[in-house]
Amino acid sequence: MIQRVLAVAGCAIFCVTLSASLAAGQKGKGGPAKGDAAKGKAVFEQCALCHSVDSPEKKVGPSLQGLFKHKTLQNGKPVNDANVLAQINNGGNGMPAYADTLTPEDKANLLAYLHTL
Ligand code: HEC
Repeated sequence: MIQRVLAVAGCAIFCVTLSASLAAGQKGKGGPAKGDAAKGKAVFEQCALCHSVDSPEKKVGPSLQGLFKHKTLQNGKPVNDANVLAQINNGGNGMPAYADTLTPEDKANLLAYLHTL
């Protein structure tokens, strides 16, 4: 009898853990994997040459201060993860393309960092 109780309890714990991890896994669904802003800041060092982040000052490219508080990008598209990622991947108008030089993880971390600006 005691074994049966343990088996039921064990299953309950297992099921709760399983559904919790499934729920956590679904958070990033539809968008890129959730990034790490601290790592993204390190990746951004190569962008800082052309982009300021703590002032509105324009360098080679526009300041990215408050990027996600803007309505549109310079190219007229709305500011969202997909369009910012497209800008990073494709570059254009003086910005190099990073599609092949950054890993998907780097890009997810970058996006997380850009959200903090
Ligand atoms: C050689 C200079 C240069 C480098 C390096 C550079 N960019 Fe850019 N970036 C630009 C220019 C110029 C633009 C403006 C493009 C336009 O007007 O369409 C731009 C535009 C952008 C935009 C759109 C901003 C807006 O408000 O429309 C984002 C986001 C961006 N860059 C992110 C990055 C990231 C992230 C990196 C590093 C991985 C990076 N850039 C590296 C020059 C650069």
